[in-house]
Amino acid sequence: MTAIDDARALFRTLTGTEPAGAWSAPGRANLIGEHTDYNDGFVLPFAIPHRTYAAAAPRGDGRIRVASTFAEEPVEVALDELDRLFPSAGAPAVPEWAAYPLGVAWALLSRIDGSGVSGIDLAIASEVPVGAGLSSSAAIEGATATALDAVWGLEADPVALALAGRRAENEAVGAPTGIMDQMASMLGVADAVTFLDCRTLEARSIPTGFADAGLEVLVIDTRVSHAHSTGGYRERRASCERGAAALGVAALRDLSVADLPRAQALLDPVDFRRVRHVVTEDQRVLDTVAALTDQGPRAIGGLLVASHVSMRDDFEISTPELDLAVETALAQGAVGARMTGGGFGGAAIALLDRSLVAPVSDAVHAAFAAAGHAAPHVFTVTPSAGPRRDV
Ligand code: GLA
Repeated sequence: MTAIDDARALFRTLTGTEPAGAWSAPGRANLIGEHTDYNDGFVLPFAIPHRTYAAAAPRGDGRIRVASTFAEEPVEVALDELDRLFPSAGAPAVPEWAAYPLGVAWALLSRIDGSGVSGIDLAIASEVPVGAGLSSSAAIEGATATALDAVWGLEADPVALALAGRRAENEAVGAPTGIMDQMASMLGVADAVTFLDCRTLEARSIPTGFADAGLEVLVIDTRVSHAHSTGGYRERRASCERGAAALGVAALRDLSVADLPRAQALLDPVDFRRVRHVVTEDQRVLDTVAALTDQGPRAIGGLLVASHVSMRDDFEISTPELDLAVETALAQGAVGARMTGGGFGGAAIALLDRSLVAPVSDAVHAAFAAAGHAAPHVFTVTPSAGPRRDV
């Protein structure tokens, strides 16, 4: 069974009736621009073919019930209780998985007069690998937001739905993440990357040209799982905020490479390296957009590699498994490779000739086995479309 069938079957088990429809939203990979989003900077992600599905139907009693193939038990609350449950950062009032869809409902209702909306049942199933750095969370938020928007007749625009997803993640789940993942999911276009200014939320689709150039994107999921609600992600964000404050700017986006000597004089060595990553990464995003547009996808390899090196050495969010994945892909002739997503585990991507997909996959498996790492999960992804109604 596919995930959409799973979602519809779960809905029938939950309610004994057919859903009114099923809606879905994709996960994402990021071509380049990591940890720049919450610094008001630039990112260049794309939606992947893997999607999360929400089967849904209205109900008459003003209650919301969510069920997921991740969990044994559904969670049900009155819509007018959501304001009491959230924000709940730090002490989730509901199981963590349920805070994503319920948080989206809460965030959407907070924007409108919710007195007229119906109750709703939602059954969720996903084919986006969890903990792989491919934004399974943004896919849940996006599928839920798209289903609620349709059932409640909100006609919200994709940016408003993306913002509701981020609010759920920040304030209902308690993960201090930026806006990249939700925007990548909601604005996905086939064979294109989304060039997003995270300060203005202006977005532009840029054709990748990968297919015409005979290139594929290989995802190497190291299966080292990560969570952004704790630890390293929060610390990195705090370093960036300290750096911006010390340099007297609203966000690191307001600095350029020319400001780095001043940053070095003002900051401790660790915060300086964090700042240097973000400032140079913003520039690499701009350079990647220019290279893609003017010269084509084979010209971006060096930028992808420089981004990985910066995350490994300056931002210190890579892992031995991610480094090995990148090094092995490059040694086999990939155009470029880098870890993607928040780091501390998850996946790397490699841009490579179609003929290299099998040899690089084999080489990565062999290298992981030789290093004593668990077997990675290796597959290709094509930049794909955003949310949709499936049934
Ligand atoms: C996670 C977060 C994003 C972004 C990336 C790093 O995926 O959800 O907001 O910060 O990490 O680029």
